[in-house]
Amino acid sequence: MSVTVRVPAKVNVQLAVGGARPDGFHDLANVFLAVGLYDEVTVTPATELKITCSGPDAHQVPLDASNLAARAAIALAARHGLSPDVHIHIAKDIPVAGGMAGGSADGAGALLACDTLWGLGSSREELLDICAELGSDVPFSLLGGAALGTGRGELLQALPVGGSFHWVFALADGGLSTPAVYGEFDRLTAHAAVPEPVASPALLAALRDGDATSLAQTVVNDLQPAALSLFPALARTLAVGSEAGALASLVSGSGPTTAFLAKSAASADEIASALLASGTCRAVRLASGPADGATVVAPAV
Ligand code: C5P
Repeated sequence: MSVTVRVPAKVNVQLAVGGARPDGFHDLANVFLAVGLYDEVTVTPATELKITCSGPDAHQVPLDASNLAARAAIALAARHGLSPDVHIHIAKDIPVAGGMAGGSADGAGALLACDTLWGLGSSREELLDICAELGSDVPFSLLGGAALGTGRGELLQALPVGGSFHWVFALADGGLSTPAVYGEFDRLTAHAAVPEPVASPALLAALRDGDATSLAQTVVNDLQPAALSLFPALARTLAVGSEAGALASLVSGSGPTTAFLAKSAASADEIASALLASGTCRAVRLASGPADGATVVAPAV
């Protein structure tokens, strides 16, 4: 008996970042959109906790207790007085350390998979609570769709979306550490007054209307200057996407994946070809959003 859960990647269509808090985190107004690039997490009973990973970037994934999937299994088991004796296999398609919440997806996926395997029937609220303990982006990976995340990003309010948006993602050579990017944000804003992060009403309306042109005019990522400062070559990738017709070009989350909003599936194909031909990225991926959150795909329930 094993259970497989499919979990989406995300792009932040608005990432408004406030000043550093006493606990080191930053208050956010974080508008998440789940996109159709997925990891699949399979859990199977075993004699002890073990993680394996397959996929093109599998060698970059830590297979010890620092992996959020392992931490999810341990946290859920501890709440129920169980031993987390499972083999967790991650079929990885989400870029690693790319600013698309791949690690968070695996945490949310392992949590739902273990809950199903162990027959615990935890409520959505209980699972979201554990997700929030695991990391700021993990609750959204469970929820999917689109949502506004406040606090450090973990307090979610689901958002209505009136259509599907076409995206191209350019994968960079190498990764960026999220704490390092937030650290660079602090350095770059050290002498500026950092305003309270607030969700943009125009952006929420564009999502609700499914209007890609309006969404493109309102997307904003306050971490982008910090990501570009640490990874200046991304500026060239962004320029290539814009020249190829992207409605908006931005760094995804803390990067270094870059995200391009296209006006149609055909335009997304053209942008992807131009990015690949430019040699400014190592791979491109096409995906649309919103996508469903963590979902049990086998066995069917
Ligand atoms: O919550 P998570 O473990 O994903 O956060 C990783 C790191 O990103 C934190 O240790 C912190 O440095 C930074 N972070 C932050 N403010 C947030 C979310 C993350 O400073 N709201």
